[in-house]
Amino acid sequence: MTENHGVGGSIPPLGTIAGPSPSGGLTRTAVAREDERPHTIFQLPTPTLLLDRTRLERNVARMRDKVRELGVALRPHVKTAKSIDVLRVLSGGDDMPITVSTLAEARYFFAHGVTDILYAVGIAPVKLPEVAELIRAGCKLRVILDTPEAAEAVRHFIDAEGVRIEALIEIDSDGHRAGVAPTDPLLIEIGRHLGDCLAGVMTHAGASYDCRTRDEFEAMAEQERALTVAAAERLRAAGLPCPIVSVGSTPTLHYAQRLDGVTEARAGVYVFGDLVQAELGTCSIDDIAIGVLSSVIGHNRHHGRVLIDAGFLALSRDRGTGEMPIDCGYGAVCDPLTGALFENVTVSSTNQEHGIVTSVSGAIDFDRFPIGSRVLVLPNHACATAAAHDRYFVTRGEEAIIDIWERVNGW
Ligand SMILES: Cc1ncc(COP(=O)(O)O)c(C=O)c1O
Repeated sequence: MTENHGVGGSIPPLGTIAGPSPSGGLTRTAVAREDERPHTIFQLPTPTLLLDRTRLERNVARMRDKVRELGVALRPHVKTAKSIDVLRVLSGGDDMPITVSTLAEARYFFAHGVTDILYAVGIAPVKLPEVAELIRAGCKLRVILDTPEAAEAVRHFIDAEGVRIEALIEIDSDGHRAGVAPTDPLLIEIGRHLGDCLAGVMTHAGASYDCRTRDEFEAMAEQERALTVAAAERLRAAGLPCPIVSVGSTPTLHYAQRLDGVTEARAGVYVFGDLVQAELGTCSIDDIAIGVLSSVIGHNRHHGRVLIDAGFLALSRDRGTGEMPIDCGYGAVCDPLTGALFENVTVSSTNQEHGIVTSVSGAIDFDRFPIGSRVLVLPNHACATAAAHDRYFVTRGEEAIIDIWERVNGW
């Protein structure tokens, strides 16, 4: 991928979007200069986000093989990693279409040479000038919508501004969040508003996260596929163009048996995996590629609590495993060097900058957590935990830091 130099106007370059760069050092003086960069995880201030590149590569290869087997293109959702370096691992440096969840991601990835981008959150009319600016700069940015009002707003903007904005209609394939049902008369009405700017249909079966058995996952994946393909066929039968049929979530793609009629698959969280994904069976605990490195800062022997310096601002408030067979609290605790889980303990509660580690049953063994020692907290939900950090300290699962990769947070 090459850098784009044609991006002008109000589209800020990387660095102004991503906040202080590793060399900028406003937030972390430990990485202020090349010769001051930490070489091992033991030199890092805590809390901080570690990324195991070996696990990342393994996760990426698994999904790449699966999608290849299903015979569709992969359009990864970069909202999980929000990092050009992670995308380079996925793409091997080749051009690759992506999905984004913010226009900040669209600007950042376009500035790094990615041109085919689907902004997969229903478009707010107020964002159309920003979308148009990227398109005029050469980005093949598409938007999604699921109401006649939004389609009319896009059509009006196109006619008034003389810029071509292509849109996909979001299909409700599971009753989970957004989208228009494939049988709803509104589908055709929305399609007609868009006319030749209709690029296709897309869906995300978020309800797959509620499945528990293999049969349920496979049925949900088939439902996601079948309803989206049905919507595309209805649009085509009405004489409307519908070249793109886009589906996906990590669980539905992991369990999908076939994707006939689909042109592309989107998945995001699979790159890192997390405790929720491990419970859903899409990865194992040993595949989880990120964790929050934290220091043990206290022993509250009276209440059986080990205190660490990663609270909810470093771990996120996500309680994704709360309703699952194994409740991991705010994260599972492991040894940062061996990756071995400390069995029978979790981060059971958090304050802003405190994590409270307690035993699931019986007394906690304080000797396993000396004051000043370090633990790695595996996330419930990788997207939410990573969003609390502005960079990854990259390792190969050992103490050496091999890279520092930025993220693009914000909107
Ligand atoms: C529209 C859309 N597509 C794809 C994805 C990727 O799903 P997952 O994180 O399960 O891989 C998401 C995730 O929220 C999404 O919102």
